[in-house]
Amino acid sequence: MPEPRRIVVDGHAVELDPRASLASALVSSGVHALRRSVRGEPRGPVCGMGSCYECRITIDGVEHERACLRGVAGCSTVGTSAETRHVEPRSVRSLVCDVLVIGAGPAGLAAAASAARRGKRTVLVDENEGLGGQIWRADRGVESERRRDDVRAAGVELLVGTSVVMPLGERRLRLAARDATIDARFEALVLATGATELLLPFPGWTLPNVFGLGGLQALAKGGLELAGKRVVLAGSGPLLLAVAAIVEARGARVVALAEQASRANVNRFGLALTTRPAKLLQALGYARSIAALRTDAWPVEAVGGERLRALVLRTPRGNATIGCDYAGVGFGLVPNGRLAAVLGCALDGRRVRVDALQRATVPWIFAAGECTGVGGKDKALVEGAIAGASAAGDPEPAQKLARARTRELAFAERIERAFAPRAELRALARPDTIVCRCEDVTRAEIAQPGTSPDDAWRSTKLQTRAGMGACQGRVCGPALEFLDGRAARDARPPLAPVTLDALAVMPDESR
Ligand SMILES: Cc1cc2nc3c(=O)[nH]c(=O)nc-3n(C[C@H](O)[C@H](O)[C@H](O)COP(=O)(O)OP(=O)(O)OC[C@H]3O[C@@H](n4cnc5c(N)ncnc54)[C@H](O)[C@@H]3O)c2cc1C
Ligand code: FES
Repeated sequence: MPEPRRIVVDGHAVELDPRASLASALVSSGVHALRRSVRGEPRGPVCGMGSCYECRITIDGVEHERACLRGVAGCSTVGTSAETRHVEPRSVRSLVCDVLVIGAGPAGLAAAASAARRGKRTVLVDENEGLGGQIWRADRGVESERRRDDVRAAGVELLVGTSVVMPLGERRLRLAARDATIDARFEALVLATGATELLLPFPGWTLPNVFGLGGLQALAKGGLELAGKRVVLAGSGPLLLAVAAIVEARGARVVALAEQASRANVNRFGLALTTRPAKLLQALGYARSIAALRTDAWPVEAVGGERLRALVLRTPRGNATIGCDYAGVGFGLVPNGRLAAVLGCALDGRRVRVDALQRATVPWIFAAGECTGVGGKDKALVEGAIAGASAAGDPEPAQKLARARTRELAFAERIERAFAPRAELRALARPDTIVCRCEDVTRAEIAQPGTSPDDAWRSTKLQTRAGMGACQGRVCGPALEFLDGRAARDARPPLAPVTLDALAVMPDESR
């Protein structure tokens, strides 16, 4: 291990692994609560990928930084309570390119390489510092390294640690990097914004050390120390097995693995894998976890005080209370169509609607990967290759890859059918269970649905402040959509919390 880095946390010096993410390192060092909620509850990281905003801390004097997106290496002082400071206005610069790609996961990497190889000046933007998205960000395997090399070899320019703030009109976006505001102008835009986890409220789910399933995986990849820890994994979908494998490989003991889907659904899905040898091979690698998997089982309560002590699971044989240090709980993935919606693209549910060229309903916008429907890495790569070429004006890959695309879409539908969350999960939250974590709004406080689902969400926000906090409904929106059909389709600018100066500077019309 390299020399530990000395960081001052709330006035005390601690030594942290310089290779870890700040969120992972802080939790490993015993700092489980990174902030207090509006009611004063302790809160720790949940999603591990920048969408829940539960890991907000002050880093080197800058408030509201997400600890899961920052590495230990670049930090000196950390505070877990907000401080007020004077914000220096940031510089504004302009960026002009042919193709702008948002999201550097498998879809975005494939799209950027595909557009740049066709001679287009291509810029790839991601709010995370590492390239690779949810699956490859901390991965140095052959496939992920080859995809990163492809992007560099094709001459793609990279803008990491940079979020999209808002549209500035047709073919223009405002971006916020840590030290600058950027006005981007381009001919075509590829959205490869991925997915977020469906996190459903249940009593105790806000306790520190109850993570999302993918959240726990992201923290583990980010250096969370797991040796000797007892971990419960619960929720739904293939991610359960992938996360079990990762945490066990890092020395944790998976003391329970609960899949909410029925045994029949899981078996049917397993059978369908026989038509996809590569995926079957991957599943066989999880044989031990598959044997330990309890189906028809789901979490009903997380127990603890300042942090998690045990998770109560509902199983066909009754409730079981399982002592644990960490829990990963996630009920599948939700396409991230927020930016597409703000840009006026039509969505089907939460999926960005695209044609065979991956073109969205706005002609200069293309979309690829999980944001068009959750289907995994292979779907993302095929769609990304098509989207990048189409954005560069070349329709040929759309024809060549049409069969592969159809096959991946069929697989995506199978996943959705097999692991659809069961109706019983709607009853997990009690009246006093917090549903909106940012504003501490309980299930009882949330108004009953109105006549139109859109009105219901708007009135919910106005009456209760649910969905009005830092995550802007990224967590409670999909949850409420599942719980009582309150369609949370009101993403609007700014898409990420930013300092006022990133909003206030007028775009330079001369460029
Ligand atoms: C938490 C999580 C864990 C997962 N783990 C696995 C796994 O172990 N194995 C597996 O096969 N699949 C996993 N998946 C599924 C995975 O999403 C896909 O297999 C694959 O990564 C999809 O690629 P993608 O390019 O569509 O999206 P992603 O890989 O999700 O990439 C999307 C990228 O867009 C960026 N982004 C989004 N919005 C903005 C914005 N406004 N501004 C700037 N950047 C933005 C994000 O930071 C992200 O890097 C996981 C998904 C999630 C959500
Ligand atoms: S854990 Fe950092 S934003 Fe969710």
